[in-house]
Amino acid sequence: MDRCLQWSQLIPDIRGDDGAETIPVDRATAVLVTNMKHGALRPLAGFMDSQTVCSVIRDWRLPDGQAWGMPVVFQTSMEHWSKVREGDEINLSMDGRPVALARVVERFTLDLKAYCSGVFRTDSPDHPGVRRVVRSGPYALALSLISASDPGLPFRDITMFPEDTLRYFRSMGWKTVAGFQTRNVPHRGHEELQRMALRMCDGLFINPVVGTKKPGDYRDEVIIESYRRLIRSYYPGDRVVMSPLHYEMMYAGPREATLHAIIRRNFGCTHFIVGRDHAGVGNYYGPYEAIEAMEALDLGIEIIRASEVFYCRACGSLVTEMDCGHGEDKRQRFSGTMIRNSIERGSVPDENIMRREVYEAVASYGNPFRGGDV
Ligand code: ADX
Repeated sequence: MDRCLQWSQLIPDIRGDDGAETIPVDRATAVLVTNMKHGALRPLAGFMDSQTVCSVIRDWRLPDGQAWGMPVVFQTSMEHWSKVREGDEINLSMDGRPVALARVVERFTLDLKAYCSGVFRTDSPDHPGVRRVVRSGPYALALSLISASDPGLPFRDITMFPEDTLRYFRSMGWKTVAGFQTRNVPHRGHEELQRMALRMCDGLFINPVVGTKKPGDYRDEVIIESYRRLIRSYYPGDRVVMSPLHYEMMYAGPREATLHAIIRRNFGCTHFIVGRDHAGVGNYYGPYEAIEAMEALDLGIEIIRASEVFYCRACGSLVTEMDCGHGEDKRQRFSGTMIRNSIERGSVPDENIMRREVYEAVASYGNPFRGGDV
């Protein structure tokens, strides 16, 4: 098996090589390295080679047969790409700080149009994941990590890596733990999914993504604070733990959902919650495609599938298609995007769809939303 795919020992702390070429990386790459260092992307301990990328896109599997839906590729500039050779050791750095020492396993180029169509099912620049890939260009390196550092991470004091979660879950006596992925402040639909998981599992691991997201998404600190308030106000404190996941969303829908599940498996979760339009954006993916894709693969973690949650005025509660017989006129459907847009216009969301404590956390920030570009 290729060196960059060997089951990682945890990658040791950085040992720079003064004589080696240094390649600058962005935050998205630096946090992938950090996650690899801590085993969150096992069995990956480096960036994929061209054969692995093809295998993942075509078969949703690594070449050794393990389920894996999302390529993890190192893209760099032509200038840096031209300077290195296969077998070279290179330093990766971010803002002048060391990130990793790595060995170049392969130099290859991506056909960006075909790659994006394979991964995102579109090559439209309207898709934020496509924009990011295209902006990073076609020059790619397969890398095997030799040593790595933790870049200065925000929320470090509350960040747990797999070695921490495995210890924590054990210390709490949790035999079953449900992982919850999110990039949003919680609405009542998220809460229903979390309660469903709490009824099935001993513990709930809420693992919101922090890092660059698309403009209009919530700022990281808003998400963390709103979860603090939800947990404090409503959840049994000894059955729920939250830690941010340092990771940059690609909005690749079903493919990215498989990566989300693998990461939580590596954190020690036995279950992973997936609802409507997981990791989606716009209308690129069907509402339950992520669930279908994941159920077709053996990801080593049980998928808790959740139908769309909405509020029914006749039932007077949050329900799904499975347990409510009323018509559309009684149903109040909502999504993170819809709630974000209404808060942006100055409306206070109905308590049927967002807890007052959560809204107050959002409102306590002058501007709770991200600007700029992905
Ligand atoms: S995501 O990009 O991280 O998937 P989000 O934070 O909105 O976005 O969703 C977190 C999880 O909740 C995902 O599994 C998503 O499918 C699910 N979800 C969000 N809204 C609903 C809803 N109204 N009904 C059912 N599931 C939902």
